[in-house]
Formats: sequence, C-alpha cells, structure tokens
Amino acid sequence: MVFGASAHAARLPAELLFVDAREHAHAGRGRLGLRWHEDADVAIVQLPKGKRRRDFFFAQAASVATRVVLVGAKSAGIKSAERALGRLGTVVGSAQGHKRRLLAVDTKAPASFDLARWERRAQVGALEIVVLPGVFAESVLAQGQLDDGTALLLDALPPCRGRILDLGCGAGPIGATLAANGADVTLTDVDAFAVESARRTLAANGLKGTVVAGDRYEAVRGTFDLLVTNPPFHRGVGTEYATTEAIVREAPRYLRPGGELWLVANRFLPWRRPLAQVFADVSVLRDDGRFVVLRARSPR
Ligand SMILES: C[S@@+](CC[C@H](N)C(=O)[O-])C[C@H]1O[C@@H](n2cnc3c(N)ncnc32)[C@H](O)[C@@H]1O
Repeated sequence: MVFGASAHAARLPAELLFVDAREHAHAGRGRLGLRWHEDADVAIVQLPKGKRRRDFFFAQAASVATRVVLVGAKSAGIKSAERALGRLGTVVGSAQGHKRRLLAVDTKAPASFDLARWERRAQVGALEIVVLPGVFAESVLAQGQLDDGTALLLDALPPCRGRILDLGCGAGPIGATLAANGADVTLTDVDAFAVESARRTLAANGLKGTVVAGDRYEAVRGTFDLLVTNPPFHRGVGTEYATTEAIVREAPRYLRPGGELWLVANRFLPWRRPLAQVFADVSVLRDDGRFVVLRARSPR
C-alpha cells in the first residue's frame, strides 16, 4: 500500500492522458487530446521527456485531481520531477523499485488550467510559429529561429505545388512554409502536442492544410507528389532508427508516379543505405558539414 487511507483513494484511476498516437492506439482510445475533460480523484502522470512538458502535465493534473501520482524511471530525471511535484502540495506516499519510482502528492486546491498560457508564439521568418511544451525545437522556435536541419531543408526545396505530406511535422514550420507557397499540405505527427501546435501555426498564418495525429502514415489518406520530413531519431531519451527506416520503406506506397521523398538529417545518421534499398535515385542535395538533405526518387 503506497498511500495512506484517504477519501481520494476511493476512485482509481484518473483519466490517463495520451500524447503519443502509438500508446493511444494500443489503449484502444477513440480520441487523442491534450486535455483531461473529467474530474478525477487521482491523476497519474508518467514522467515525460522535458521539463516544460512535465510541468504542463503537473499543472493539468492538479486542475482535475487533488492527488497527483508521478511515475517514472530513475534514469529519466525523476528526482528533479519529484521536487517540482512536491512544491505543488504535500507528499502523501512514495515507492520505488529497481528502476522506477513513484511519488504521490495531494495538491493544495484544484487549480485552473489554461492551455493558451502554455503556448509560445514567435515570428520565424515570414511565419508565426506556435509551439506547445516539449515539441521539437521548442526553445529555438520560441526565439524566432528554425532548427538548423529544418532551415537547410527549406532552403534546398524548390518552390513546390501539388499535394505534399510533411511527416513528423512538429510545430509545422515545413508544412506551413509549403502551404504559404500554395501547396496542398497534409501534416502529421505522432505527438498530440505537435499536432496541436501545427494546427495553431496554420491558423495563426491564415493557412489551409490538413493536420492529423498518427504513427508514420497511419492517419494519412491518398498519395502525394512530395513527401518531406525531418524525421525522428529519438524515442523518449533513447536513440531509435526503426521509425525512420519504416518511413522510408513505406514511402513508395504514398508517392504518385514521379513523386519524391525529401529528408534532412544529421550527417551521422545512417539513412542513405535504407533510402538506396528502396529508391533507385538518391542524391545529396545539401551538406553543410552537420546536416544533409537527401532526395529520393524512382522507387525500385
Ligand atoms: C526532428 S522532429 C521535426 C519536426 C518538424 N518537422 C521540424 O522540422 O521542426 C521529428 C518529429 O517526428 C515526430 N515523430 C516521432 N515519431 C513519429 C512517428 N512514429 N510518426 C510520426 N511522427 C513521429 C516527432 O514527434 C517530431 O515532431
């Protein structure tokens, strides 16, 4: 028994918050969102990556439940998360196993939660970018700059029209730039914070586009003239290549005849080989010593 006897313990658990479409799908949930809508006795927070997203979760959890339970890996910054959660109220229980820790805190009073307070907006070149906690390149975007890889990709892309997919859209700088140039864009990301940021970015600039939450191509319909991506190579705190390898492998199914896949990545990442296995024509269009922009066409 982790918790002392309390009225709070009567109704477990709170609504869980899914921010990753893969976990969402596994749980069989019908909706992916950033908010808890129902009040609960206990809110369980799985420690996310990044302090801003962590604090967002705590604030949100404290707005729907008076007891917040944090669960996380010892290797993932749980100690500082516990200190942050402890500041919200009174510690009423804790437990630890070999690799994981758990802390329960009763908050002082249900607090109000306003999603708008957590978004950051900045003018980045010609676009206003809206970025929510923990979305890729949040701090550079909030300072009015693009991630260097994203910037190199946008610089290399010729003006393109037609139907374009921005896969792993983050806050939407690539898709929004292409939409501003007149393309018919679809943006997709597995992370609900990214999807919501990208929607807000398009809206802030009066741009049209479809933004969908999904794992790789899961939520995407139809075929495209151009697939463009600054693909992931992290999952949580670890390095992961499987997602991008699958993005490359599955790309031909989503390309129209004559269509192309453009990809930017750190130079050290091993994408050339999987690209060459799937496409007959792969070129390096930019190489600034840190990032490369690769173009792949003619699926084998
Ligand atoms: C390097 S960031 C690029 C973000 C944005 N395109 C940019 O350039 O600023 C990679 C993005 O891929 C997303 N991602 C990770 N795994 C994914 C998956 N399985 N399916 C779709 N998107 C994924 C991440 O959430 C992240 O937003």
